Amino acid sequence: MKNVQLYDKSFKLYLTYEEIQNAVDAVAQKINNDLKNEDAPIFLGVLTGSFMFFGDLMKRIDFPCEMCFIRLASYEGTSTTGSVKQMLGLTQSVRGRNVVVVEDIVDTGGTIMELDQILKDAGARSVRYSTLLIKPGNYKGSIKIDYPALSIPNDFIVGYGLDYDQIGRNLKDIYVLDVEETERRKGINIR
Ligand code: IMP
Ligand code: MG
Repeated sequence: MKNVQLYDKSFKLYLTYEEIQNAVDAVAQKINNDLKNEDAPIFLGVLTGSFMFFGDLMKRIDFPCEMCFIRLASYEGTSTTGSVKQMLGLTQSVRGRNVVVVEDIVDTGGTIMELDQILKDAGARSVRYSTLLIKPGNYKGSIKIDYPALSIPNDFIVGYGLDYDQIGRNLKDIYVLDVEETERRKGINIR
């Protein structure tokens, strides 16, 4: 599929499933090298967007580890609201543990800055950050992202877990907002 329409917005193919899998391979290899000698780290998936990346990444991790999830939300539609809400808190203790955060995308960095505080308050021994995507042009955080799989421009994207107003997460490839096509359809009133 080269183009998709989600509500009022048009999107075009940006990263294929194969390109995503190659990037996940490379990140998994680095994590396997760096963490193989640590006591079973906890991989913490940030719901909902990271669920596909989390599954694909975890299949490639070759040392004993635990997994859990947290749910944070900062987006409404296609823009960040600036405040991060904790919808599902930590369901397991991270005290004294090495944690690897698994994010879908790091945009302004607001979410991971908030998460870093939550994990420090909860007594994590170390926290590392992996993300499928990062928008370096928007990033204003002070945290080093240890394992970014792919860097992208400041465009709005959907698919492979990422949503536009909660839809589009099931797409297996990643799509970018097509501003011209969205405007064109608006002009001729197509839905
Ligand atoms: P941040 O707090 O600004 O870094 O935003 C992080 C969160 O916003 C991500 O975990 C996503 O859930 C969401 N987000 C950021 N950029 C996009 C995008 O291009 N498409 C869909 N969701 C996004
Ligand atoms: Mg997210």
